Amino acid sequence: MNLSKGITLGLLLVVLVSACSDSSTSDSTPLAQEEQTQETTSTQDTTSLYARLGGIYSIATVVDDFIERLVVNDILNANPAIDEARASVPKAGLKYRVTEMMGWATGGPQTYTGRSMEETHADMNITEQEWQAMMSDFQATLDQFNVPAQEQGELIAILEGPKADIVAATMSPIEY
Ligand code: HEM
Repeated sequence: MNLSKGITLGLLLVVLVSACSDSSTSDSTPLAQEEQTQETTSTQDTTSLYARLGGIYSIATVVDDFIERLVVNDILNANPAIDEARASVPKAGLKYRVTEMMGWATGGPQTYTGRSMEETHADMNITEQEWQAMMSDFQATLDQFNVPAQEQGELIAILEGPKADIVAATMSPIEY
């Protein structure tokens, strides 16, 4: 089963679980167990973006695909400061931190433990063009996993929230 099918199934499962809300239906996959556990622990969680996306397994799968696209993005790789910063951290660690942040930002039980967006991206001279390149990769990932339009809009708003802390907007175009 490919990943996008997995995610779509995850989303369907959430709908099913919340519709049936019968925690006794046993589906032993980690994803379903995690969703059921969360479903039974706090009722409002069935409407959180976190729950609608299918919990942390689905979010981690989306972040994994997204970061794999970023690391081969020619526009981002043309910026030596981004390249250097990315080479300074293990990819798995970056995926973990972004997944943790997305879990927290979508209403999940996670707590983000990383640095602020300003501190993290301060020395990367990120331009508007690089920002748009990153957002195009994010859009491609959301489409790959058939994330519904409503949830896409909410996820894009989360990424755009700290834009002013990430894009060095005042800098004149940089010649590499
Ligand atoms: C063009 C846009 C972006 C580029 C080029 C970029 C690049 C990077 C790089 C290279 C790192 C690893 C370097 C390090 O940890 O020192 C990083 C870390 C991180 N980025 Fe970005 N990023 C961008 C946008 C964003 C956005 C929109 C978010 C979330 C809203 C985000 C969240 C994070 C997080 C959570 C970390 C880990 C911070 C930590 O470990 O303390 N980034 N980014």
